[in-house]
Amino acid sequence: MTGRFTLTHRLTGNHASTSLRTDVLTGLASRPRTLPPKWFYDARGSALFEEITRLPEYYPTRTEREILAARAPEIAAATGARTLVELGSGASEKTRLLLDALRDAGTLRGYVPVDVSDSALRRSAHRLRVDYPDLDVHAVVADFGQHLGMSGSEAPRVLAFLGSTIGNLLPAERSAFLRRAREELEPGDTLLLGTDLVKDPGTLVAAYDDPAGVTAEFNRNVLAVLNRELGADFDLGAFEHVARWNAEKEWIEMRLRATRELTVKIPAVDLVVSFERGEELLTEVSAKFRPETVRAELADAGLAATHCWTDPADHFALWLATPVPAPVPSPNPGHPAPA
Ligand SMILES: C[S@@+](CC[C@H](N)C(=O)[O-])C[C@H]1O[C@@H](n2cnc3c(N)ncnc32)[C@H](O)[C@@H]1O
Repeated sequence: MTGRFTLTHRLTGNHASTSLRTDVLTGLASRPRTLPPKWFYDARGSALFEEITRLPEYYPTRTEREILAARAPEIAAATGARTLVELGSGASEKTRLLLDALRDAGTLRGYVPVDVSDSALRRSAHRLRVDYPDLDVHAVVADFGQHLGMSGSEAPRVLAFLGSTIGNLLPAERSAFLRRAREELEPGDTLLLGTDLVKDPGTLVAAYDDPAGVTAEFNRNVLAVLNRELGADFDLGAFEHVARWNAEKEWIEMRLRATRELTVKIPAVDLVVSFERGEELLTEVSAKFRPETVRAELADAGLAATHCWTDPADHFALWLATPVPAPVPSPNPGHPAPA
């Protein structure tokens, strides 16, 4: 094994306590009550998500994999990347198609998986070290809202954001994320973005409400995280999983609905929260996209879409985008150059 392995923590020392406390205090005071989806992903949540990706109803993973399998050599040729930086890398399963293509193209030197889940990173890095013994793997435990893992990596880089995880960001967060990505991409770097597309609501809802109840368990896991990290006393059995298509916003909402009236204590933040029977807690939005919107949002952030690949059913799209050079400011604004 000649490749190096490092794992860097970029979360503040007590991220779980400070950031989670702030999110809980803000989110449970708002209406509807809300929790950010990043808190699903402790070791159990990450394992459950991997299970979700194997469900027959959950088309996004296999569809994106199909597109990657067909297009990875083109992606490797178009990017010429020496470093693959991947945000929300999770199990890094589909990533292997990219790693193989970049390795076959002879450019690949390093892989930088970035994820908020320490356990997912360790597990995937361990498997990658076995299968790619020559690859340098620099895993980064970080919140991609704060840290993109780009610094210090060998150029050109491809910044991959797969699985339509971008759809879990609210529109303002999405726009801030794309601008941040644009700032960090240098000439020659590329963004590789996976976006789930708008389709019939039946297919969409089924993907987030499987009959085996895996997604329901994943959804309720956020309450288990609050119980463990903040000493809360949520009764997981008192919340049912809801997956709903919001046609106006064009996103799936995952919610937890109280099946009875209950009061929950969260001692670490000195909070007591009452739920009416039927009251809902919004735990995730998963926006679905139209190609013209993605192109426009990329352009607004200073990114030009160079490629857009979809599957035959147009269920999912994979994009390559490059940073648009910033206009050179005129040396003497407001003063025309002398004739
Ligand atoms: C929907 S899963 C996608 C996983 C994988 N990219 C795929 O396509 O199958 C989202 C991944 O992003 C990670 N994640 C969620 N929010 C995050 C955040 N704010 N910062 C870093 N990672 C995050 C989760 O731990 C999880 O691995």
